[in-house]
Amino acid sequence: MAEDQRLICASADLAEAGKGVCFTVTYRQREAAAFAIRYHGQVRCYLNECGHVPAQLDWQPGEFFDDSKLYLICSVHGALYAPESGRCLGGRCHGKGLVALPVAETNGQVFLIKEVAHG
Ligand code: FES
Repeated sequence: MAEDQRLICASADLAEAGKGVCFTVTYRQREAAAFAIRYHGQVRCYLNECGHVPAQLDWQPGEFFDDSKLYLICSVHGALYAPESGRCLGGRCHGKGLVALPVAETNGQVFLIKEVAHG
């Protein structure tokens, strides 16, 4: 493992469109909540902050997908985001998407690439 990577979880912890893994990250000199999910086979990672106001999205710990399993949904006012990009798709995010964090998946493990995430 390179020094600029931080282990987040095992690949097996992230089921397709299933429960996410929550963790904290230092982002722009502050501690911030973040999460990882798997969608279309790819691991995606975002700050756990809605584009509307910086509330955490999950309605239960780790539950980020809506019932259709096609969208990430904010539990506060229902803003919808694209799982593959974090783009705002509707609701009160008003075009402001999620902040994506760089991740890498190798050898059955998911890593946050810290160098960039510290931005
Ligand atoms: S806080 Fe997420 S939609 Fe309002």
